[in-house]
Amino acid sequence: MTTKAPWSDGRLCYGGDWNPEQWPPEVWREDVALMRAAGVNLVTVGVFAWSRLEPEPGRHTFDWLDRVLDLLHANGIRAALATPTASPPPWFSLRHPDALPVTADGVRLTHGSRDTYCAAAPAYRDAARSIAEVLAARYAHHPALALWHVHNEYGTTCHCPHTEAAFRRWLTGRYGDLDALNDAWVTSFWSQHYSDWAQVGTPHATQYLANPGQLLDFRRFWSDTLLSAYTEQRDLLRAANPSVPVTTNYVLGDWVPVDHARWAREVDVVAIDHYPSAVGSDAQEQTAFAADVARGWARHGAGRPAPWLLAESAPNQIHVAGRMHTKEPGRMTRHSLAHVARGSAGVMFFQWRAPAGGAERFHSAVVSHAGADTRVFREATDLGAALGRLAGTAPGRVEAGVAIAYDAASGWALRHPGMPRAGLDHPGEAAAAHRALWHAGVTADVVPPGAPLDGCRLLVLPALYLASDATVDWVRRHVHAGGHLLVTWLSGVADEHARIRLGGYPGAYRDLLGVRVEEFHPLADDEHVPLTGGGTGRIWSETVHPAGAETISAYAGGVLDGRPAITRHRIGDACAWYVSTRPDDDTYRRLLTEAAGLAGVTPTCPGAPEGVEAVRRHDGLLYLLNHTDRPQRVPVTGLDLLTGATADGSLTVPPGGVAVVREEPS
Ligand code: GLA
Ligand code: GLA
Repeated sequence: MTTKAPWSDGRLCYGGDWNPEQWPPEVWREDVALMRAAGVNLVTVGVFAWSRLEPEPGRHTFDWLDRVLDLLHANGIRAALATPTASPPPWFSLRHPDALPVTADGVRLTHGSRDTYCAAAPAYRDAARSIAEVLAARYAHHPALALWHVHNEYGTTCHCPHTEAAFRRWLTGRYGDLDALNDAWVTSFWSQHYSDWAQVGTPHATQYLANPGQLLDFRRFWSDTLLSAYTEQRDLLRAANPSVPVTTNYVLGDWVPVDHARWAREVDVVAIDHYPSAVGSDAQEQTAFAADVARGWARHGAGRPAPWLLAESAPNQIHVAGRMHTKEPGRMTRHSLAHVARGSAGVMFFQWRAPAGGAERFHSAVVSHAGADTRVFREATDLGAALGRLAGTAPGRVEAGVAIAYDAASGWALRHPGMPRAGLDHPGEAAAAHRALWHAGVTADVVPPGAPLDGCRLLVLPALYLASDATVDWVRRHVHAGGHLLVTWLSGVADEHARIRLGGYPGAYRDLLGVRVEEFHPLADDEHVPLTGGGTGRIWSETVHPAGAETISAYAGGVLDGRPAITRHRIGDACAWYVSTRPDDDTYRRLLTEAAGLAGVTPTCPGAPEGVEAVRRHDGLLYLLNHTDRPQRVPVTGLDLLTGATADGSLTVPPGGVAVVREEPS
């Protein structure tokens, strides 16, 4: 990752996806006037415009995009110009039926939605490179161009013959010979031993459980395949004008076969789309977690703290559990600034103007079906003004003393249906640890295994199931340098191929933790096990034998009555905690507060009331987000950049409001 960035003019980015291809030019002019009124300075254009840019194979129609980019430039708005490769036109699928994706059940999909291609099919890759190349040739030096936005939310899979061949090539590169593959996948089980590469395929639908190593490698293969589809476009775009940064918008979720941490080195700026899957306080917890995940990727990619970009978010309604929820006034601004607090270089919405039809006609927009005379547009205008007041501040570096490890492959591996319990969720466990710290007022980094841990005094491994030797070494180095460690159940149970590390769980960390786990007792969804000292455990429990560690809390009742649930092992001056169940939220918050405290990490803004999120940054700013419906007094001294108010010892943040304080010593 380089330092090239679309915010080099000192302002934070503000805007969203704009789809002029859906509208006549009168609407473009109205849109641009509204963008100016709202303080917009960056719009993402062309994401799904392939059929308007290339209506027939090889015939390009650029006049409309020329006019759009000129119009933006004339109005001081810059463009994140997309390559439209996430939605090939109908002619493409009719011409190249072999490039249409095949599901695990062998069903070949066809056009009519989006993302209908196989990223391993040569015809698709040729077509994608070709449209990227002509866009680069035409627009790489356009004065409106701020950023290339390649594709959209890479995340597709396929099981066609092109994929089978590509998967075999990838496996040959990874393992060299079949013996190594047989060993990694433990093919001695169920007579799966391969005696010829031609026998190895993608994990199609199977009669019963599929091989976990094969499934895991299939995800890794897709991550690398999609990455090569991205990098070949990126290289064409870079070649046309090396000064323009290139990125792609990450879609979050462990269904995505993309290891975004590995991708972070290949983008000029990490860009994420974030849509909370919940309303209420869960939404702010999810927002903080997603932002910290993005910051961890950005730092990993750049090799130092670096800003990232919120490339998509919902200005208003979000889909939760089958219905739309309208955001109450203030939430758009507060959640947008929550991302900025945690390192985003701006706020981008999906989408600027709501479409009149199409599959996502009811997805939220800054300019809704009702037009711009709306509370949402007025709030977007106020947000634009607020972002304007933060111009010149330096996003990217956040003060955090705790790091939570988060690893795509561990999430994938835990999804295998042959695990001791359904619903095991590494990202969910990482989010739970983050949420407990969030409620304790402690800011955390979220980092991929292997990332630099400078500044981290407590490292948390939340159900980090896979542990390669390199990951084990990373954890050991942290502990031997005096860092504290907190490990939760199922971490370090398997190696990077999902083979069990034998001799008692968790094979990777037994000695550091001073425990040996003999057997698992997964809990039912509605089951709770009481713990001594208060609280309960959920989801999971285990038979833990201390081997050097002291018991902090034991199971109270059930088959594990009296046995250790939470242990602590002294290593020099540091502590290595083992947590063999998922404590309830209050207990988890107390536990992590204690573990952080022993490691010397305190809340970001001691004295901030419950419900006020505080993020302190290295640029001297303290972000205060009041998620409650009451005014809240926060002990702070300095200048609120949003209102111009000075605080001498305390500041009242209005209900649902935000303050950004340039702190002074009190
Ligand atoms: C059946 C099968 C075995 C094994 C067990 C697992 O009995 O015959 O191969 O799968 O179930 O419990
Ligand atoms: C994603 C996609 C967009 C759109 C939105 C809808 O983030 O990138 O194209 O589908 O979701 O909320």
